Amino acid sequence: MAAFHPLRIAAREQLTEDAVALTLAVPEPLGDIFRYVPGQHLTIRHHDASGAELRRTYSVSGPVPPADGPVRELTIGVRHLPGGTFSAHAVKDLAVGDTLHVLPPVGGFTLRGADGGSGGHAVAITGGSGITPVLSMAATALAGDPGARFTLLRSERTAAATMFLQAAAELKDRHPGRLQLLYTLTREERHTGPATGRLDAGRLRALLPSVVPVREVTAWYLCGPQGLIEEARAALDALGVARARVHAELFHAGTEPAAPPPPPATVAGGALLTATLNGRRDTWPPRPAETVLETTLRNRPDAPYSCKGGVCGTCRARLLHGEVRMARNYALEEEELAAGYILPCQSHPVTGTVEVDYDA
Ligand code: FES
Repeated sequence: MAAFHPLRIAAREQLTEDAVALTLAVPEPLGDIFRYVPGQHLTIRHHDASGAELRRTYSVSGPVPPADGPVRELTIGVRHLPGGTFSAHAVKDLAVGDTLHVLPPVGGFTLRGADGGSGGHAVAITGGSGITPVLSMAATALAGDPGARFTLLRSERTAAATMFLQAAAELKDRHPGRLQLLYTLTREERHTGPATGRLDAGRLRALLPSVVPVREVTAWYLCGPQGLIEEARAALDALGVARARVHAELFHAGTEPAAPPPPPATVAGGALLTATLNGRRDTWPPRPAETVLETTLRNRPDAPYSCKGGVCGTCRARLLHGEVRMARNYALEEEELAAGYILPCQSHPVTGTVEVDYDA
């Protein structure tokens, strides 16, 4: 059920000058609803000073979820972004005892089977707050399989701005021979310790074969800003890594314009959108140029969404009938597209009748 639930802040840790970790207590009746797979994210609803509703998405950084049984707490990392209303509020004002309104975890950027239970070697390349989901993925992979190995290559601005530095070091202490931690700093020159400079495609292509057995890596996880993900993908392509082994989660999209919507479908009797949401199936006429999400929200305000920009995947639904054109997709992987999933916030109907299932 895609409904917001009030969760109390049980702990707050200042990670850096501009970032905090917030641990949310999950009350017993919600323990099953908030079960999560490492790598998934939560959507938080907030109202700004004018009363306007904002939704922001944050990945769960831990703890390792119980193998079975309800979840008791979840930790997220929030970094203050320039102009970010909620992130400024979180870093400056939020305290233990405050309540956040939170959607249950979703997202397909999760551990793949080969590295979770068969002695696989996974590699993650992260930038900035992209560490957040990867931290819980690494902790879970290493805790769940005594033969698993994990290499974490982080690109950070400076050592002081590095989120979850201590948590990563503690994970390394727990699995010294199986977790490899590598850092590069983009805005700080050091004579010892982490290397400096940007992780571009050329650098990654030269670096990766010297630190991991590229051909034996079972899964690659890329998480961070668009530039880092594109550079890492280019490097992995050049190294001959199969695209099916590369999984990515974008944290900040670029600003390139989305594709324009297709011309509205014209059908006798008018176009129709049918949607199943939270167990109820309805049909409505879309307005010209509306996305599938816009038509849904006009009639069902409980439809799930967060970024409305094709990045977070919170709105994901399965296309059951008809055809849509997606303007942008930074969230769905090839296998999800092949299974018929779409991002309703980016989808315009191409056919006169379209049916989607938000519960699928
Ligand atoms: S709401 Fe974020 S991808 Fe649709």
